[in-house]
Amino acid sequence: MTIEDVFTLIKGDMERVNSLIQTSLYSEVVLINQISQYIINSGGKRLRPILVLLSANAFSSNSKDTDKKNAHYITLAAVIEFIHTATLLHDDVVDESELRRGKDTANELFGNAASVLVGDFLYSRAFEMMVGVGSMKVMEILSHSTNTIAEGEVLQLLNCNDASTTEARYLEVIHFKTAKLFESASQLGAVVMEQDEAIELAMANYGMHLGTAFQLIDDVLDYSASSEDMGKNVGDDLAEGKPTLPLIHAMLNGTQEQAGLIKEAIEQGGLDKIDAITEAIEITGALDYTREIAKKEAQLAIAELENIPDSDYKEAMIALAHFSVDRKY
Ligand code: IPE
Ligand code: IPE
Ligand code: MG
Ligand code: MG
Repeated sequence: MTIEDVFTLIKGDMERVNSLIQTSLYSEVVLINQISQYIINSGGKRLRPILVLLSANAFSSNSKDTDKKNAHYITLAAVIEFIHTATLLHDDVVDESELRRGKDTANELFGNAASVLVGDFLYSRAFEMMVGVGSMKVMEILSHSTNTIAEGEVLQLLNCNDASTTEARYLEVIHFKTAKLFESASQLGAVVMEQDEAIELAMANYGMHLGTAFQLIDDVLDYSASSEDMGKNVGDDLAEGKPTLPLIHAMLNGTQEQAGLIKEAIEQGGLDKIDAITEAIEITGALDYTREIAKKEAQLAIAELENIPDSDYKEAMIALAHFSVDRKY
């Protein structure tokens, strides 16, 4: 199954999610509509809502009273995309990024203050919608997840410009800032369909490994993709002095001179040494090293699906694990 097949498989559900997103964005405050419409309509892969949809559909045949549950998982898919979009609005301010989803970032176009405040609007709108589902367990999962993302972004801020950041500290950041929301998205489908705890845990673990692979590759793409494919500027991480795994690995395995160069780049940020640093990353095999870890995470994700009943939805989850590693965007 290809990623396009996955999109086709959940097309009908995704149309419902997108129309709920549109109606839920509404605010009497014009600037809120303007900015939220701008970022939501810029596209994005919608991977996290896809996870909710696949997970719920994988279990809907062995669940009762599905009419109500169907409405709930559509709501939760939209909620997850709102939370994700809010993190992007905030993240682009913190990272001083200028390109997102192939367009100017909201901070570039509307300014930092407006981006932060509309991010808050999206977070809180997500919580309003979530209350409508009427499940304490759902509230618990999503409030914890949102809180963990915030912790991850702050932890990352502490690592920024710190050349002593270890692989372990980097991995902790990506678990918090990215993998946690993937984990919740996958888990929620099983929760809505009232599956037993072992299944719920397998789905949560699947999402966690998938999200880890996804962020590892995001960090590879920041050094190797084209801005056109990615819809984001290449080199943003280096410009900011963000010690991601490709940089950490190149620093530890390069010559003394290369190590010094990378240390300085992490501590001071900036793109003036990008050619020499890209060369160090290449010579030390840092991108392949990072890709290998992502591949292992994707395999762990797939292994978690062993006891999930076979279906097209399960096949799609496996395809997503492959996509998270092989992707160019
Ligand atoms: C971007 O996520 C943020 C990361 C966790 C790397 P996506 O790559 O899923 O962003 P969109 O939603 O498709 O734009
Ligand atoms: C992911 O980190 C951001 C969030 C989880 C909010 P990045 O900073 O690498 O994401 P991009 O590259 O800006 O999309
Ligand atoms: Mg960023
Ligand atoms: Mg990135």
